[in-house]
Formats: sequence, structure tokens, C-alpha cells
Amino acid sequence: MNAPDITLVDLRAQQARIRPAIERAIARVLDHGQYIMGPEIDEFETRLATISGAKHVITCSSGTDALLMAMMAKGVRPGDAVLCPGFTYTATPESIVMLGGVPVFVDVEADTFNIDVSQLDGGLRSARQQGARPIGIIAVDLFGQPANYAALCDFAKREGLWIIADAAQSFGGRLGNRAVGSLTEITATSFFPSKPLGCYGDGGALFTNDDTIAESLRSIRLHGRGVSKYDVARLGINGRLDTLQAAILLEKLVIFADEIVARSEVAARYSAAFGAAGIQPIISRRATSAWAQYTVTLPEARRDHVRQRLRAQGIATEVYYPRALDEQPAFQDCIVVSGGIPIARRLPRTSLSLPMHPYLSVETQDYVIRSLLGAI
Ligand SMILES: Cc1ncc(COP(=O)(O)O)c(C=O)c1O
Repeated sequence: MNAPDITLVDLRAQQARIRPAIERAIARVLDHGQYIMGPEIDEFETRLATISGAKHVITCSSGTDALLMAMMAKGVRPGDAVLCPGFTYTATPESIVMLGGVPVFVDVEADTFNIDVSQLDGGLRSARQQGARPIGIIAVDLFGQPANYAALCDFAKREGLWIIADAAQSFGGRLGNRAVGSLTEITATSFFPSKPLGCYGDGGALFTNDDTIAESLRSIRLHGRGVSKYDVARLGINGRLDTLQAAILLEKLVIFADEIVARSEVAARYSAAFGAAGIQPIISRRATSAWAQYTVTLPEARRDHVRQRLRAQGIATEVYYPRALDEQPAFQDCIVVSGGIPIARRLPRTSLSLPMHPYLSVETQDYVIRSLLGAI
């Protein structure tokens, strides 16, 4: 018997569900021809504001540019230090370094994979000892679970720091009754195709309740535009979302809430089965994850063997991420909290992300569960 082909995400199944609506949305853009900042951009931003509860939504060209624009709005400059987790995608610290700032890597929690708030004091001390000026924090909602914003915001307030949410993986998630997008002063998300809400190319968005920050972000998105087209009020970038992508995303939003529920059901089934083995991710009591990834932690000596066994059984897996960021050549000049980041260093050798998407049948979920439990 041939092994099945179970992929990590399945964008084709989603496309099959909404293809006629997507084709009509694309045709509408072709008809009106406003490819840059067409009416779908405004419509999509309004919809996102309603869903997130944020007063302002500024769509943009990618999650990476969303972070960069947030750093520009906050005026990060050489000598500034920004605390962030050492276990995340490179785009998080990249946005700081791009402006001459220095990331201060702190450790993450072993079970939620999110920034460990108890490490922040140490991060501040390490930054100051090395002559850097701490000004803010970027928290990351890794794999879809919002970070502990209550504790993070308390800390930030006490220390006079700003805090930005890298919610590239968590749009659709919640903390209590508040949606991602309204948990911090500025939230940045990504619409990369495989994200919970993904477009057919690159895209992203920023969320804020602050009128002044929103105005800066809108200006930065348009090369720092001031009151008129050729008035350059500040440095900016070409950071716009394409009208075509907004049109596609509007159609994807129609089924988004439904898809988040389907992802939660897959995660619940996985976790019920993996609980006895103690390998399941932990979602904090108040959090609802968007389940961008479902990531287990395995004994280091077994992880690669398990991965090979699953591959032989036709099940794709991925290691997010194969290295902690302080081990990457590009980040050798960054500051690491004194004591190091042992959990961020260990997770690349123990974590394994399993197939996770809203179109995973119960039979396939059970096959993944049986195969994984068999392999360990
Ligand atoms: C945590 C995190 N931050 C930032 C990004 C960057 O988003 P994008 O790929 O849209 O630039 C990603 C996406 O991969 C991400 O996972």
C-alpha cells in the first residue's frame, strides 16, 4: 500500500471551497482597475477593525514590513535596545536591527513557547550593562497563542517601555474576551499564505487604538507622505497591501471564524490523545490559540527518529525553528540575557510541528495520532 501524502497545511482544500467567490473578487478588481489602494483595502481594514476591536487597522505589504513600520513609528535608532524572545522567526529581531537597534534575547517558556516574563528584568540589566538603552519589547504569539500580555503590559508600564505584539501567527486568537489586535498598543500580523488568515502572496496589517500612531503608520506606508502627495513628512517605505490581495482576503474572511473553530477541534483531538504522553503544547487558561502550528515536544534522543518514521508513513512535519536566534550568524552582535536562553536553545532539538489545518479529516487526525504515538 502506498503511504498517504499528509501535508502540514492544505491550501488547495480551502481554495476548492471558495474558488468561485475568489474568482469573482479578482474579476471585480480587474474591472475597476484600482490595483493600488483600491476600494477593497478600505473595506478589508474596516472588517479587520470590527473583528479585532482595534480602532485603526493599517494593512501593509507583509508581516515583516508591519514589524519594521512599527519600529519606525516608535523611532528605534542606534543605541536602542528592544527585548524579544530568542526563539521566534528571524523577522522579529530583524526589524530592530534594520533601524540600528539591538535585540536583547530573553528565554521562552518550555510549554507555551512564548516569552518568559520572569526573564525581562534580567534582559533590562544585561542591556544596560552593555551600554544599550532599553526602550521596548516585542512579544511574539508563537504558533498562534497570544503571549501573556497582562504580565507583559504591567512590566512595560512599570519600566516605561512600549510593547508591540508580533501576532504574525495569531490573528484569530483571543485572550479572555479580547481579540488579537487589541491586546497591546500596536499589533503586527502577517497574511503569508500558510498563516491562519493567508492571502495569495505577501501581506500584513497593523492594529492600534492610538490616533497618532495610526497616522504615523499610514504615512510610513506611503514613503512618509505628509499632507499632500509629494510632501515627505518622515522616512517611510512602499508598504502597501495590493488591492488584489485585499479582495482575496475579504473572501477568506467569510469562512475565517469557521476555520478557527475547525483548527481548535483538530488541536483538541490531538491534545486529548497526546496528553498521557505529556508532549502536547500548553494553552494558558485565558488564551484561545489561532493554531497556526500544532507543536509537540519530544525527548531529544527520539525527535529525529520520530520525524523519519512519520515521513515514511506519509506524514509531513516541520521543525520550527532549527536554531535559537542567538546561534544565527546574522545576530551575533545582539545581547543575550545573562544566564543565556537554555530553553530557546533546547527547543530546536525537541520540537516538532504536525499537520494542522481546518480541512484535516478525523480519519487523518487519528492516523497522525496513531503514527506519532507508535513512533515514540
Ligand atoms: C513570528 C513571525 N514574525 C514575522 C513574520 C513575518 O511575516 P511575513 O512572512 O508576512 O513577512 C512571520 C512569518 O513568517 C512570523 O512567523
